[in-house]
Amino acid sequence: MATTTEKPIIEAQNLSREYARGPEHVNALSNVSFHVMPGEMTAIVGPSGAGKSTLLHLIGCMDLPTSGSLHIDGVDTAGLKDRQLTRLRRDSVGFVFQQFGLIPTLNVLENVLMPTLFSGRQEAARALQLLEQVGLAHRAKHRPHELSGGEMQRTAIARALINSPRILLADEPTGNLDSASGAEVLQLFKSLNSKGLTVVLVTHNESAAATASRRMTIADGQLVADIRQ
Ligand SMILES: Nc1ncnc2c1ncn2[C@@H]1O[C@H](COP(=O)(O)OP(=O)(O)OP(=O)(O)O)[C@@H](O)[C@H]1O
Ligand SMILES: [Mg+2]
Repeated sequence: MATTTEKPIIEAQNLSREYARGPEHVNALSNVSFHVMPGEMTAIVGPSGAGKSTLLHLIGCMDLPTSGSLHIDGVDTAGLKDRQLTRLRRDSVGFVFQQFGLIPTLNVLENVLMPTLFSGRQEAARALQLLEQVGLAHRAKHRPHELSGGEMQRTAIARALINSPRILLADEPTGNLDSASGAEVLQLFKSLNSKGLTVVLVTHNESAAATASRRMTIADGQLVADIRQ
């Protein structure tokens, strides 16, 4: 649980992201400010086109704000060089996508090891331990096409955790799953969160949003509600 002595793990101040679409400018995100404390589980909800993915990409340092400031894990992201941003993205944040993003020619274990490919570290034991944690040790040598959707997403979650990030970001992680697999994946997020992982997930799904301890609503690029539940 967050205590008052802890520092925010995500700190956004007047975060804005403008996109150019031909001659037009789209304010995908306008002056969004919030803090996330370590160990929180936050759901970002809101209508399609509201700016939810834009916000998640900024938090994950996969995109840069047009203006405003963002601190991740105590690091001010403004002015970081590409290499430093890459390191922050690799070490502090794990990302899970709706479409899983697994490499079809690699088996489950190799997919989980992908983010360590260029680190020179031997992480096979950790990858196996993560697969055990997500209930997939028996699938380590299987290819993605041999897995169910839920198993693919659990593989993607293990992959997101291989570099031991403190923050796990997920964009519609249950969007491609049937309700039973979706519930399993949510249970996994919940269990990882109970062990201290900070989780931020974007969702259209009411039961997924209800799993979180906090609900931030984005509409028209603005943070219109922020409720701890
Ligand atoms: N790369 C881009 N170039 C131009 N416009 C963009 C780009 N990415 C997003 N937008 C626009 O920014 C706005 C917010 O998009 P975003 O993808 O963040 O919405 P969202 O809330 O995730 O929607 P959904 O629920 O449909 O995934 C939309 O108007 C979108 O068209
Ligand atoms: Mg989106």
